[in-house]
Amino acid sequence: MSDIAISDIEAIRSRFQADIDAAIDLPALDAIRVSALGKKGEISMMMRGLGKMSPEEKTIMGPALNGLKNDVAALVETRKTALENEALDAALASETMDMSLPLSRKTGTLHPVQQVMEEMAVIFSDMGFSVAEGPDIEDDFHNFTALNFPPGHPARDMHDTFFMVPEPIGEEGAERPTGTQDVGEQKVLRTHTSPVQIRTMMSQKPPIRIIAPGRTYRCDSDQTHTPMFHQVEGLVIGEDIHMGHLKGCLMDFVSAFFEADVEVRFRPHHFPFTEPSAEMDVRYERDGASIKIGQGEDWMEILGCGMVHPNVLTACGIDPDVYQGFAFGMGVDRLAMLKYGMPDLRDMFAGDPRWLGHYGFNPLVQASLESGLS
Ligand code: DAH
Repeated sequence: MSDIAISDIEAIRSRFQADIDAAIDLPALDAIRVSALGKKGEISMMMRGLGKMSPEEKTIMGPALNGLKNDVAALVETRKTALENEALDAALASETMDMSLPLSRKTGTLHPVQQVMEEMAVIFSDMGFSVAEGPDIEDDFHNFTALNFPPGHPARDMHDTFFMVPEPIGEEGAERPTGTQDVGEQKVLRTHTSPVQIRTMMSQKPPIRIIAPGRTYRCDSDQTHTPMFHQVEGLVIGEDIHMGHLKGCLMDFVSAFFEADVEVRFRPHHFPFTEPSAEMDVRYERDGASIKIGQGEDWMEILGCGMVHPNVLTACGIDPDVYQGFAFGMGVDRLAMLKYGMPDLRDMFAGDPRWLGHYGFNPLVQASLESGLS
């Protein structure tokens, strides 16, 4: 007969049960599990002793020891779940959240340029325009050629273009990043939003009525110029569209934008992509450091516009004998400065949180015509 008797088994089970019930936390419980069922644990050692028993003893002790092992394992599991629940309850009790505490986190603000672009979108969408987009990195065709700037045209030089470094000629079969162009194709940072006119006319049939807000780039930097700036382009194409539509549309726009009756004047100008072309000025008055739009004796230029040149329509596959249209383009940054009284253009893009806190807008208040835009 072995040194453990069947009668001992019940006593061992009771001892482990008492220990397990008394375990105060998960590490204590695990120590008990190891002492019973680990490789060198008490029950594991007893099971190892089965090999030395006679077949008769084995038939009695084998099932008894297996039962003991399973019972102790089940007791450990039950206690483990109970301890885990206790730990969770304790954590939940200590981590309650005081919903009455005021939020101290500082929320961000909407940049005035973003605000003004949204105001413009609200005004033009009320007139039936939708918003179109194009890439900041453009090709020569969309930025210049299709807009009636032939290669070598002097007006190209006035754009202070940022040219992208052309792709080097790769070794034969060399891997090129996906999306790169064939060697020789000159890419530029778009110098105006007018290429979105081309993209829209090539992908959409008239009637067309879009605005295209976005970033534009020119190699120019001083008190009134930044290398990156923002424009909003407008394009209307249809049948029997004339200069009267252009004037009415832009006059309505400025009055809605400045929330006042603003007197405007159109001066003849030249752009390669419109004929006739004009610049639109608004009446204004300087009062010390501040500027009042709509009154006074001075005029300020705020946008360029004109009737879309037949060559541009033709380049986009639109028959100029059937369709006409008008286009306009304006600088958003300067309009934001005029409307909200920011003195220096360069501050706009310096990313100073104090400036943004002062001039920024509440992102949760949406611009709408009913609320007076801002
Ligand atoms: N693209 C011109 C510029 O950047 C602005 C402009 C003028 C846009 C006349 C137009 C337009 O659509 O008709 O200076």
